[in-house]
Amino acid sequence: MSTPSSGIPQSATLPKSAHTPAPYKGPSRDEVLALRREYLTPSLLTYYKEPLNIVEGHMQYLWDDSGKQYLDAIAGIVTVSVGHCHPKITERIREQVGKLCHTTTIYLHPTIGQFGKALAERFPKGSELNTTYFTNSGSEANDIAVLMARMYTGNFEVISLRNAYHGGSPSAMALTAHGTWKYPVPHSHGVKHGTPGYCYRCPFGLTYPACDMKCATDFEELIRYETPGQVAAFIGEPIQGVGGVVDPPPEYFKIVYDIVRQHGGLCIADEVQTGFGRTGDHFWGFENWGVTPDIVTMAKGIGNGAPLAACTSRREIAEPLTQRIHFNTFGGNPVSMIQGLTTLEIIDSEQIQENAKKIGGQIRAGLMLLKEKHALVGDVRGKGLMLGIELVKDRTTKEPATAEAAEVVEQVREKGLLLGKGGLYGNVLRIKPPMCLNSTDADFLIACLDEAFEKIEA
Ligand SMILES: Cc1ncc(COP(=O)(O)O)c(C=O)c1O
Repeated sequence: MSTPSSGIPQSATLPKSAHTPAPYKGPSRDEVLALRREYLTPSLLTYYKEPLNIVEGHMQYLWDDSGKQYLDAIAGIVTVSVGHCHPKITERIREQVGKLCHTTTIYLHPTIGQFGKALAERFPKGSELNTTYFTNSGSEANDIAVLMARMYTGNFEVISLRNAYHGGSPSAMALTAHGTWKYPVPHSHGVKHGTPGYCYRCPFGLTYPACDMKCATDFEELIRYETPGQVAAFIGEPIQGVGGVVDPPPEYFKIVYDIVRQHGGLCIADEVQTGFGRTGDHFWGFENWGVTPDIVTMAKGIGNGAPLAACTSRREIAEPLTQRIHFNTFGGNPVSMIQGLTTLEIIDSEQIQENAKKIGGQIRAGLMLLKEKHALVGDVRGKGLMLGIELVKDRTTKEPATAEAAEVVEQVREKGLLLGKGGLYGNVLRIKPPMCLNSTDADFLIACLDEAFEKIEA
């Protein structure tokens, strides 16, 4: 791939995968779309003017029904950590499905305890984060986390953050703070929303570091004015994902955790997007900020595409749930457990976290060059392979470039690149690929974006 003196790679040609997809013999894209329109809820979301019919995946690549190959820079939906249909995981699932798919936790089965132990070993020494409740989705894991915090502390109020996304179940929707994801039904009872460390759009109109971290210190006021003074918990994503890859100043979480703990609350890290090495320097997102949570929730990349999630805490925090019966029918099923265990093994054996750091660094450097070249790029954010590009119509007014972001996503798709979108205004491009991405893929991604930005600016 040629690189001009500007340092921006030039060839926007998709690297060809060594994998050959099987000839597709299923229904056409139009037939699939017609079935969906007639029989499925109209609330399902699709990207693209003409939704893609994706029929096969291998590692960082996907194929549609016409055999066209794509680089998946959004990893399904940040769910594929080590590669689509990773051969080792596929083999282990096949083996497990042939033996036993499901019974429930009423009976014993070795894999659930083995995975619980493997996760406990991943947390920082001395954190005592060693007790896990397995669920099937991130929303359920966050439900459990909040329930445990309320039961353990005897307090009710939970503090989440504006611009957060924690799920779509009624209680997770309460934690979520984006009007676009909140239905006009009673919600957010017992939930308050603090200000995020979103420097590019500072909620107080201030500038770091002269701001004295008002976004974090304001928690003191929030608790004093809007709660009885004692809270059950604070929940935060170490880097806000759906909110547009918003990473706060380094001291933000330390200040917030301290205030919350002084008011009796537990601290919950929602690692649904940031966990499992994605941020490169650390296995968990919270480790980037020098804090240790009391509860950690996980989903998405934990099982490389399995409907699998978890809530891990110290044992004493999980204890009060024994006061009633809490049950999750499919939580901890052997097939999901095998997927989770094997994903962890591959993260180690294939140096996935190191790759996220290296390739993420390469992409970030490329994005910084694009920012110098294109006025459309307002901000570049994130760590490792969790990166965001906030597009603006005007760098002074910061008017969100929502239509332009949608246009970029369409244009790069034609070239064979699948990107995500996020932020309240839908103007943040999200790059969160399977963490097996290589250097040639990274060059292709930057070249594609350069070309798309150029066209749109013209
Ligand atoms: C940070 C975060 N938490 C929780 C969730 C909810 O997960 P699920 O869709 O599996 O319920 C999501 C989903 O996007 C998420 O990004």
